This record gives sequence, C-alpha cells and structure tokens, in this order.
Amino acid sequence: MSGPFYEAEIDLGPLKTRRLALIGYGNHGRSHALNLRDMGVDNIVIALRDGSPSRPKAQADGFTVESLDQAVAGADLVALLAADEAHKQIWDDHIAPNRPDGQGLIVCHGFSIDYDMLDPPSDCDVMLAAAKGPGGAVRASFEKGGGLVGFWAVHRDASGEAAAIAKAYLAAIGCGRAGIYPTSFKEEALADILGEQAVLVGGMCALAREGFEQLVAAGISERMAYIDTVHELKYIADLIHERGIHGMYAAISDTAEFGAHEVEGPIRDAVRPVFQAIVKDVTAGDFARRWVADYDQQRAGLHRMRAAVKDHPLEAAGLQVRGAVARRKDGSAT
Ligand SMILES: NC(=O)c1ccc[n+]([C@@H]2O[C@H](COP(=O)([O-])OP(=O)(O)OC[C@H]3O[C@@H](n4cnc5c(N)ncnc54)[C@H](OP(=O)(O)O)[C@@H]3O)[C@@H](O)[C@H]2O)c1
Repeated sequence: MSGPFYEAEIDLGPLKTRRLALIGYGNHGRSHALNLRDMGVDNIVIALRDGSPSRPKAQADGFTVESLDQAVAGADLVALLAADEAHKQIWDDHIAPNRPDGQGLIVCHGFSIDYDMLDPPSDCDVMLAAAKGPGGAVRASFEKGGGLVGFWAVHRDASGEAAAIAKAYLAAIGCGRAGIYPTSFKEEALADILGEQAVLVGGMCALAREGFEQLVAAGISERMAYIDTVHELKYIADLIHERGIHGMYAAISDTAEFGAHEVEGPIRDAVRPVFQAIVKDVTAGDFARRWVADYDQQRAGLHRMRAAVKDHPLEAAGLQVRGAVARRKDGSAT
C-alpha cells in the first residue's frame, strides 16, 4: 500500500526500543526532539558540537546533551538533523569512527545520500524521514494537534525494519496526523531543491526584485514598488496555500486575473530553459558539489551573495514600509 498512512496505523515500537541520538538542535532538531518526547519516545540524547550555541536551549528543554562522539557511541539509531553541507564531515569525523555495528541512520532530506556525500556500510539502515516544511512548523503544527505531511524512503534495509523505523519516526514527530507517504531519496532531493531554487525562494525573489527594479526605472517610488512586488506577496501566498492557484485567481480582481493569465505564458517561456538547467544541475549532483565546496571554504560564496542581497535598494524600502506598519501597530505612530 502506498499511503497515506495515519498515526493509528503506525507502531512506534521500532523507535521506542532503540536509543536515539539526534545530531543538531536547530529548527528541525528541536522540533523533532520535543515532538518525539511528547509522543513517548524518550530514550533521546541530543548531540552537539563543542561550543554549540544550542546547548543551553536543549538543556533548558530538559534533554541530555552529549558530544557527537559520545552520543553516537551509545545509540542504536542516529537522526542526522544537522546542516546538509556538514553531513559528510560529521559522518567521517564522528559517526563512522564511533558507531556500533548495526546502528541505523535517519536523514530528513535526501541531499547527502542521493548526492553520494555519505556511503554508510552494509550493516547500516539508511532511511529518509522528511517532514515537508520548515522545522519550526513541525513543532507549531504539532502543538495545535496537527502535523506536517511526511515522506519516507529506505536506501538500505540492513535490519529488515528500516521502513517500520522510518514510518514510526515520522509518526512520532506528528506527520501521522497529516499523512505519511512513500518516496525515494532521489525524488525528495530533486523536488525539494528544485522547489526552493526555482520557485519558492530563488524564483520568487528574482521576480520580486525584477519587478521592483522595473517599477523604479519607470519612475515609481521605491515605497510603492516594494509594496506592489514584495509586501503583498504574503496575501497571495496565503490564498494559494488555502485554496490552490485556481482558488486564488477566483479571490482576486478580474483585472488582476486577466492580466496574470496573459503574462503567465511569456514568463514561463522565458524561465523554462533556466528551470531545465536547474533540473540538470541538481540531478547531476553539481549543485551539491558546489555547495559542499563552498562550505569547505567557510561559505565564502554564500557570504558574498548574502552581502549583495542586503545592499539592494529594495531592502531599504522594505525597512521603511515594515517599520511604518509596526509603529502603527504598537501605537507609536498616529
Ligand atoms: N524535509 C524538509 O522539507 C526539510 C525542510 C527544512 C530542512 N530540512 C532538513 O533538516 C536538516 C536540518 O535543517 P534545519 O533547518 O534544522 O537547520 P538549522 O536550523 O540550521 O540547524 C542545524 C543544526 O545543525 C548543527 N550543525 C551544523 N553544522 C554542524 C557541524 N559541522 N557539526 C555538528 N552540528 C552541526 C547546528 O549546530 P549548532 O546549533 O551548534 O549551530 C544546528 O543545531 C537539514 O538536513 C535540512 O535539509 C528538511
């Protein structure tokens, strides 16, 4: 059966009987740890690097914190919830030298396995348990009685229990309330990266920035240009999230809809070759190799690109617009 699976159908036993080390206590790590514990999976240790700023937070949340070496040595199962670009270094320096035979590995994104950053040995269950959304939402939705949709996959089943473990893990972080589906590492990695690069982050920011620049070049004030190309994105995103694209179109003015239908085609024609190049780049593992190489150079490329974004005139306009809205809200403006 291909799912969806819901929590009542999933046995948490394969998880509760294992000692679990969670590496990383960032957005996903913290949410996973809190949800797991609330679901009765309490044999958990948080593994953090020396000097980690997350240590006080994990301890304040009541978790035992250990070094990576110590936590890995005492675990039956490791959930690697650290930044993807660090997975190879963490595997080589901490997991491979300390793992007991038969220890399993869970990742929450297909990146490091699908792009061959790691090559766990044949005694290692290798599983994907991906809650689809930002880490903070894993906890926030759980606290409201819900959960995020989850996808599981097995890269290697050494114990014969890998699928059961992956599904139990997803159920225990709340995904069993929204639906748990099978996938493959390849599918999850490409879909996630293409989605964030071409559409949700890179694509959306490129369109917003281009729109802002064109409006300013046409003599529109930066404040107005920001509002119409960036600030209002939230309202459209909320409508699409709640109703889909067709439902969003039904909820906006006919003028906006008519014009949008007319330009969708030419915009798609223009970006198609770029999207096709992204698919090739990601599928071939070239993006992963560039990103890990940049990580090895202390993220020099990322820092350079981040600085360029910060200096764009759109940011100053945004500060003004958001500042004015915030002052109005807290009563400091009349
Ligand atoms: N499935 C999905 O839809 C989805 C969505 C978002 C993210 N994810 C995945 O979730 C994972 C974590 O993402 P996140 O958003 O939680 O990241 P995050 O908030 O940046 O947290 C990363 C954690 O990793 C730790 N870390 C980073 N480098 C490390 C190293 N070299 N050694 C030891 N620990 C290290 C950090 O330690 P410190 O606390 O010491 O800094 C931090 O606790 C990634 O695999 C990401 O792809 C999946």
